[in-house]
Amino acid sequence: MALRTMVERLEMAGWLDRVGEPLGRGVQALLRGRVRDALHGVWLGHPLHPALVQVPVGAWLSAAVLDALPGTQRAAMVLTGVGTAGAVPAALAGLNDWASLSREQRRTGLVHACANLVAVGLYAGSLVARLTGDHRLGRRLAYAGMAGASIGAYLGGHLSYRQAAAVNQAEAFLRQIPEGWQDLGAQEALTDGKPLRARIGEVPVLVTRTGDGVTAMIGNCGHQTGPLADGELVSVDGEDCLVCPWHGSTFRLADGAVVHGPAASDQPLLRARVVGGRIQVSLP
Ligand code: FES
Repeated sequence: MALRTMVERLEMAGWLDRVGEPLGRGVQALLRGRVRDALHGVWLGHPLHPALVQVPVGAWLSAAVLDALPGTQRAAMVLTGVGTAGAVPAALAGLNDWASLSREQRRTGLVHACANLVAVGLYAGSLVARLTGDHRLGRRLAYAGMAGASIGAYLGGHLSYRQAAAVNQAEAFLRQIPEGWQDLGAQEALTDGKPLRARIGEVPVLVTRTGDGVTAMIGNCGHQTGPLADGELVSVDGEDCLVCPWHGSTFRLADGAVVHGPAASDQPLLRARVVGGRIQVSLP
């Protein structure tokens, strides 16, 4: 309970913003374009950071087991090096995601990053100690690093599973849509170049005219539920796309595919048609 209370207080720790706000702006200014999209995992369809984290965690844990066994100094040293090197791309991807989180999520994320930074420093020290022949010191530093990485992992779990960072926020809306075709109103309400806001019960839906047809997608962005209806329609590589007004995630209207992050998942699309002058949508 004490641990949970402590972590919940982190979310409210406004003083962390004094570091978090300028750092977030710096990361966004530094990581741009294709590098930014690649680190978000746009090409993968999922955030890249959790996948990359497997490398340092797996290597460091394996090294910890080997450190407890006789005659495995060299293998433990190699694994320590692999884990420390693997932590660099994992940290970059995490930093890139972190810069587009909500304020409360960024506070937790900042401490998560600090714990992992301490862990990387300790493992780097462990590697140097092992390379210079001091395996005893190397083991001690590695075990201290494992403690730091464990705190980082706990906070990472809190970010993902409690604060819902980097999960597709739009997917749950699909479960609130009843089966069958739903009427969204008269076709005349649709104008070229302007998405139409509609609702199915509590579910926000965005309808757009595309040529002779219509497309419909969940109206709140999968990244952090930004209102896509306030977004801008743009053309990317000749395809009509919608840019989220909050952090700039860009989705292709034809199929909801994410074209630019920070969202890494496609925006859920609904089937859409016009029957007798009425716009109708249904679950995909
Ligand atoms: S809410 Fe962040 S990009 Fe849409």
